Amino acid sequence: MEEQKLKELFDSLSIDDKVSQTIQLNGDLFVESGVMTTGPVKDLGFKKEPNFYEIGSIYNVNDYQKLYQIQKDVLTNSSHKIPLLFMSDIIYGFRTIFPIPLAQAGSYDFDLIQQAAEVSAKESYLNGIHVVFSPMLDLVRDPRWGRVMESPGEDVYTSKQFAKSVVNGYQGEKEMYLKENHVAACIKHFAAYGAPESGREYNQVELSNQKLFNEYLQPYQAAVEANCELVMTAFNLLNGVPATGNQWLNQTILRERFGFNGVLVSDYAAIAELETHGFAKDSEDAAKKALLAGVDLDMMTATYANGLPELVKKSEFAKRLDEAVWRILVLKNKLGLFEDPFRGLTQVNTGEILTQEAKDIATQLVEKSCVLLKNKSLLPLKPKSNQKIAVVGPYADSHFTLGFWASVSGKSSDVFTLKAGLLEQFDEEQLFFTRGFNLYESYEQFGPLKAGFEQLNGPIEEESFLLQQAIEQAEAADVILLTIGEQFLESGEGASKTNLQLPEKQIRLIKELAELNKPIIGLLYTGRPLVLTEVEKYFDSLLVVWFPGVMGGKGITNLLTGRANPSARLTMSFPKNEGQIPVYYAQTSTGRPLADSTHSERFVSKYIDAPNEPLFSFGTGLSYATFAGHWQSAKGNEEMIRCSYELKNRSEHDGWITPQIYLLNYSAEIVQPIKRLIATQHFFLKANEQKVMTVEIPKTVFTYFDNQGDLHFDAGEYVLQLDILGKQENLPIKIS
Ligand code: BGC
Repeated sequence: MEEQKLKELFDSLSIDDKVSQTIQLNGDLFVESGVMTTGPVKDLGFKKEPNFYEIGSIYNVNDYQKLYQIQKDVLTNSSHKIPLLFMSDIIYGFRTIFPIPLAQAGSYDFDLIQQAAEVSAKESYLNGIHVVFSPMLDLVRDPRWGRVMESPGEDVYTSKQFAKSVVNGYQGEKEMYLKENHVAACIKHFAAYGAPESGREYNQVELSNQKLFNEYLQPYQAAVEANCELVMTAFNLLNGVPATGNQWLNQTILRERFGFNGVLVSDYAAIAELETHGFAKDSEDAAKKALLAGVDLDMMTATYANGLPELVKKSEFAKRLDEAVWRILVLKNKLGLFEDPFRGLTQVNTGEILTQEAKDIATQLVEKSCVLLKNKSLLPLKPKSNQKIAVVGPYADSHFTLGFWASVSGKSSDVFTLKAGLLEQFDEEQLFFTRGFNLYESYEQFGPLKAGFEQLNGPIEEESFLLQQAIEQAEAADVILLTIGEQFLESGEGASKTNLQLPEKQIRLIKELAELNKPIIGLLYTGRPLVLTEVEKYFDSLLVVWFPGVMGGKGITNLLTGRANPSARLTMSFPKNEGQIPVYYAQTSTGRPLADSTHSERFVSKYIDAPNEPLFSFGTGLSYATFAGHWQSAKGNEEMIRCSYELKNRSEHDGWITPQIYLLNYSAEIVQPIKRLIATQHFFLKANEQKVMTVEIPKTVFTYFDNQGDLHFDAGEYVLQLDILGKQENLPIKIS
């Protein structure tokens, strides 16, 4: 629609119509046939029931037939015929569920990550979704927090690259921008939701401004620069002010400084929660504060609906409401909804969902996101040999390996299990499968879904029986392939934990199997870094497979047999114990560092009962190949430094490799991390191949913010560190 026409439509709206546009509700208010029902929203406490045919958007209806009916119903009954916006929690796949974001980021294959996002966008589009509530770009350094699985991890550079790839993948670029097969991205949660005190969900956040500017805000800003259309606020307080009512954060920083001009949606009920925080006196005050903070859409509360009609009698609020509604209409227009309110829905063709091409991308992403932490030459395994393998643990035959958010639109029945993958490549006689332990204590927690879970996962059995059976099977085998970890409800939203060790029954199983003196390969299914200190020594090889998505079984088997070679690197450190948390690589130096201090051993920065280093640090990740890299040269101009280095594959295995380049050791007005990642590259090298690579490092990476948010640049001496699978080489450079 031309802007002039959109303006005319906007001018024709009454205050009530405008307020309705700022309401976002769960799609439950529509029954199966798409007809409206007010039952489920009564509880929200609308003072005056809004005209639901005029509301702005709904979310988490993922059934295209239902969405079609809903849109039809709205267009028939609403007076202004403004189409509804359909949003959804598509976090790492619609039906083709990919590995969780924490895993994906470790692939460092940002093109592949973008391709996966394109698949998610296409499948969402074909099911009538207009906006996806992702990527989540909250920097995370505390694995107690369950939502680390949704984040690209602890590192700023990695998160920024991830942000750009996913936003571009969803929204499309150039002439395809928001067109067919693309959707708008809603990044979240602005800001710093990933740093809750004590790792406890929804807890407050205390951060210095410099840390906010230099680290936590960076990934969101990268997404805004990539043109993300929406931003979601966060639940947390930031330095005493709730993010959802924070004018400085949302207006001064997000809108003015970053130049964000799209729709700002509150997180679920976050506007009403301003009152619960003790930040707003009452509901009207909450509406006022959120509106002034620049929040355009009220997700799942009646606060705007109840409060705004009275508030907008004052011009300052009326102006803000107009801005909000205009932004919502502009988004609907950009998506082409006025021309085609059934966008995507008219083209539904289920044949295009979960296609072979999509599954191939998912398989590649599994291969590239599983992290090999340890390998005493046991891997790759030899299929079609005499080797007998006991496959122990419930994950091999489980369909519940998609992770927390996949249940919104994914289907566990789509999962290609590890068992299916192994049976494809090994002779049946080589393999014995045994459950080892129950993945769930009971299925009661799944309520009405209980029977389905039981059917796909098998009945709960006596633990001692399962243990005994596993030992017997393992005794008869040459190698034990042991699957361990978390079940999918243990991470994701609302799953903070204080104990990050494996459950007691899994530890017992590992120890009993170790008694048999057979080599053990561990496959760790998890949504977060766990504390593996007690058990790590029992494994000859250990592969973190995360929650790998629908093609997990295929990708993992390819890695086990060497059809694919592991190349992923951890994007979040695995602590030695919970007491070290937060433990991450980009630490600043204390005045009394453990190494290099003039003080006696006691009075340096350390623990008396644990090392300072995590068990597996950020960047850990092995390959079957052996790589080496050496700096060759560095030349600078006004904008960037061009460096070259030689890279060799010194093995008989072909493989992908991600050289990482860190910036080290320099002094500044604001003390900088001892090292921080500033560039990565991703290459395939054939066995024994050797190449010279170049990397361009923009001079902007040498800048940093102070506590006022002002940018600094110090000319001087720096060190670039090339890291090839943990082997490091330094290159001193001068920057003027
Ligand atoms: C989460 C968001 C999510 C929203 C809608 C909230 O509880 O924090 O990330 O998008 O619910 O489901």
